[in-house]
Amino acid sequence: MSKKIITVFGATGKQGGSVADIFLNDPKLKDDWAVRGVTRNTSSDRAKALASKGVEVVAGDLNDKASLVKAMTGASAVFGVTNFWESLDKALEIQQGKNLADAAKEAGVDHYIWSSLPHVSKITNGKFVNVHHFESKAEVEEYVRALGIPASFFHAGFYMDNLTQGWSRIQPAEDRGGAWTLRLPFAGNTPLPLIDTVADTGKFIKGMVLHRDAVLGKQILGLTAYVTPDEIMASLRKLFPEAGANAAFQEVSLEVIEAAVPGPEHIKVDIVENFQFMANYGYFGGAGLEESHAIVEDKLTTWEEYAKRASYFADLK
Ligand SMILES: NC(=O)c1ccc[n+]([C@@H]2O[C@H](COP(=O)([O-])OP(=O)(O)OC[C@H]3O[C@@H](n4cnc5c(N)ncnc54)[C@H](OP(=O)(O)O)[C@@H]3O)[C@@H](O)[C@H]2O)c1
Repeated sequence: MSKKIITVFGATGKQGGSVADIFLNDPKLKDDWAVRGVTRNTSSDRAKALASKGVEVVAGDLNDKASLVKAMTGASAVFGVTNFWESLDKALEIQQGKNLADAAKEAGVDHYIWSSLPHVSKITNGKFVNVHHFESKAEVEEYVRALGIPASFFHAGFYMDNLTQGWSRIQPAEDRGGAWTLRLPFAGNTPLPLIDTVADTGKFIKGMVLHRDAVLGKQILGLTAYVTPDEIMASLRKLFPEAGANAAFQEVSLEVIEAAVPGPEHIKVDIVENFQFMANYGYFGGAGLEESHAIVEDKLTTWEEYAKRASYFADLK
């Protein structure tokens, strides 16, 4: 019997790469599924690495619907993700998300999984309307629902990678004698839904595909656990008793964060409102994780496990 196909967008990236990996290697999936990975550039190193692992690498661009239909033709399942951070453009991300959904309908896909996020403006009754990278994905989720295609929704939590990469990472602070410091604009006991995106996105998508009928129309929250900034830093003190001896969280003002966020004004506002939302409503509105974890059979990566093997901390003095 020929294998079913899962078309994976963003296969050269974190979320999609994790999905491709598990469908290639998992004993429960690899004999039944073939992976078709979509990229704009089939000759990049990442695309070549995917091909060498057994992915059918195909060209596709989220701005070109015809290429998406082609990439989805014959696929039973599709994982769709967009990258706001490349364009910083909400309208463009919405258009790309709609292109994916329209293509899934046209190709007659049996299960479309959209990488979405909570609808901040609705949850907050219009208090925070500028979290563009959440709004765009949530608006697309509404569009997908209205299209009436068989779909489910993956809501990725706060990447553990945000704590080791980019402007928000934990860093030695000069004004704290070089001690490892995490600075965010809320209290140290604010719960953050942490996910090891590269290691674990695929575990959720595997569960969603294997439990298709049960998850249709549902939102599956992608997190291992809620962990607070104080707990994040306590783990580092324990794991790295020398270099991380004085690791600690510091609550800072929104102005400090605004200055730290690189990019144009609308992005600064986006991030500031995003943090206010997390502090006042909760990233996932305080939702429990039982329903989402019920479909996941693989062990999820804890913050301690992630931190222990992160070369970033091993190299940090
Ligand atoms: N950081 C967080 O805490 C967090 C939490 C939840 C959600 N997110 C969301 O995660 C999304 C990014 O996902 P990621 O981390 O997996 O991204 P990533 O690792 O940066 O990879 C981006 C992927 O998107 C593909 N892509 C971008 N533009 C494309 C286009 N026009 N046509 C086809 N493919 C395109 C790229 O493929 P090629 O370059 O090979 O074409 C690449 O595979 C963002 O929208 C962000 O808002 C982030």
